[in-house]
Amino acid sequence: MKSKTLVIGATGKTGSRVVKQLQKRGINPRIGSRNATPKFDWHDKKTWVDSLEGIENMYVTYYPDLAVPGAKEAIESLTYLAKELGVKKMVLLSGKGEVEAEACEKIVMESGMDYTIVRASWFNQNWSESFFLEPIMLGEVYLPMSDVLIPFVDADDIAEVAATVLLDNQYNSQIIEVTGSELITFKDAVNTIAKASNRTLNFTPITLEQYVAGMKQAQVPDDVIWLMEYLFSHVLTEPKNQQISNDIERVLNRKAKSFSEFTQDVARTGIWNQVLQN
Ligand SMILES: NC(=O)c1ccc[n+]([C@@H]2O[C@H](COP(=O)([O-])OP(=O)(O)OC[C@H]3O[C@@H](n4cnc5c(N)ncnc54)[C@H](OP(=O)(O)O)[C@@H]3O)[C@@H](O)[C@H]2O)c1
Repeated sequence: MKSKTLVIGATGKTGSRVVKQLQKRGINPRIGSRNATPKFDWHDKKTWVDSLEGIENMYVTYYPDLAVPGAKEAIESLTYLAKELGVKKMVLLSGKGEVEAEACEKIVMESGMDYTIVRASWFNQNWSESFFLEPIMLGEVYLPMSDVLIPFVDADDIAEVAATVLLDNQYNSQIIEVTGSELITFKDAVNTIAKASNRTLNFTPITLEQYVAGMKQAQVPDDVIWLMEYLFSHVLTEPKNQQISNDIERVLNRKAKSFSEFTQDVARTGIWNQVLQN
């Protein structure tokens, strides 16, 4: 039987976990990915119809970020198409403190479909599956905004919340803010990872200008540099991002996973001990 549930970004940090959460509840969702059949590609609207055909509810993560140019138009087009094709409910992963992401949320909220917005702070998994992994493996972390307090949230928690609100209509028309239960700095995060993985990690605070110059020197693509600079200058420093929400506890009836628990789980995989050389 064809699945009536779609996960867009099903191979990503939260999407892959949402797939597992749904499978645990007996639902085998359709996989939204450039490598799935049918294929889903944000840059190729022709692929969207086949992915959405017969779907009733869906979890949507946009890549790379709802703040990038073109994201709003893509979310708008997908939302209208989904409504037209009979999708009844959409759960959108959004980012806390991003004006552009809020514009995308509004499109979904005004679509006429049932919806829940899952608005997340920065993920723990940025340290284990994304841009902060390489500096950890190199043993040298240079970051700006070293004093900013961040309520890092775990992708496992986001996924469990997302799967719950996707299937339970009591959360319809709500914005669920998912944050961790503690506010920590980048330096705290690096120290906690060092302790859990039993490694020496050096943390050096730098300016945003130095960080951007470093990315340019490393030939990081311009659009990635733009996004990182935007996230550091506009999102991290936004006071709303330095607040803890108890929505994870409200939805899951348990506490959010702590950063320390996250580091212990990842340390057991050994990934932080695979030392890279510069
Ligand atoms: N990372 C954070 O700390 C954070 C915090 C708050 C909100 N968010 C939001 O979370 C969303 C996802 O960010 P993430 O960093 O966690 O990424 P991610 O979900 O780990 O991104 C990878 C996913 O994006 C898919 N993808 C990439 N390019 C695609 C394309 N052209 N068409 C279709 N799918 C594509 C990949 O699928 P395939 O490669 O299989 O096609 C994969 O499933 C963003 O909208 C971001 O704003 C992130």
